[in-house]
Amino acid sequence: MSGIRSSIAAIALAWVSALAFAQGSAGDPLAVGRQMLAEDNPGELWIDKGKQLFYAKRGPNSVSLEQCDFGMGPGKLEGAAAQLPRHFPDTGKVQDLESRLLTCMVRLQGFKREDLIKRAISPGGSSGSDVEALALYITSRSNGMKVNVSLSHQQEYDTYKAGEYLFFRRSGQTDFGCVQCHGEANKRIRLQDLIHMTDKKGAQEVASTWPAYRGAHYVVRTMQWRLADCFWQMRLPDMAYGSDLSVALTMYLNTQGNGAVIKVPGFKR
Ligand code: HEC
Repeated sequence: MSGIRSSIAAIALAWVSALAFAQGSAGDPLAVGRQMLAEDNPGELWIDKGKQLFYAKRGPNSVSLEQCDFGMGPGKLEGAAAQLPRHFPDTGKVQDLESRLLTCMVRLQGFKREDLIKRAISPGGSSGSDVEALALYITSRSNGMKVNVSLSHQQEYDTYKAGEYLFFRRSGQTDFGCVQCHGEANKRIRLQDLIHMTDKKGAQEVASTWPAYRGAHYVVRTMQWRLADCFWQMRLPDMAYGSDLSVALTMYLNTQGNGAVIKVPGFKR
């Protein structure tokens, strides 16, 4: 199975590279390839896997995730991811999709939080982690719906402001801030376009396309992974999975992206 998946992905990637060469410096040489990939996204395979995991009786308590409340009531997934992060009275915290998922896997299923965190981000080329598949399945139940993050609870507003502060703050030995790479149009590192996130359209792309199939890793990746990877690029200390800091950044980005129509899995190079 994973052999087939890798081959599909390898062919697709080769295609993008070929197109990039063929088109040389044309306006956006990768756009055609991206479109083709989006139409035949290997990440779709993880949706089924996530669905099976969601309804399977798992963990020390041998229960499914059907009683997990992502903000719309236990087990109600339609549109739930579109409104995340949000404040949850039962934890007293603002949570994004992945930190909420951890809460349910610990409280309902009895998994150990440390174990889940250790495995949440899978090695490249593997068949992916449970958390990655679940995050994709749950988000896919909001496909076609608009991102609609609310700041009406005080903690939601405070989390948003913290995320905004973090996005603009320069830190660490390289003195990098997110805004330096993502605060202007038409920036690139090597061949990679850097999404302009202080622009509504760029923020909307971010808020509506994760979890995404990551071509270079042959695996579905989540927002927590993406943020952790940018932390690494900035040479900051490792970002703790599901930390308040990561939720704050997601709160900032998703709120900026309000109104975007969700379409996951996205496809990233
Ligand atoms: C040194 C430059 C750099 C810095 C600083 C940086 N990033 Fe990134 N970011 C990247 C690159 C490179 C990519 C991936 C582009 C690609 O693969 O096409 C990326 C991608 C992303 C994406 C995914 C965009 C998409 O495709 O949807 C998000 C979200 C993101 N960064 C958030 C952040 C945040 C938040 C910070 C600050 C904590 C940050 N980045 C700091 C370089 C940077």
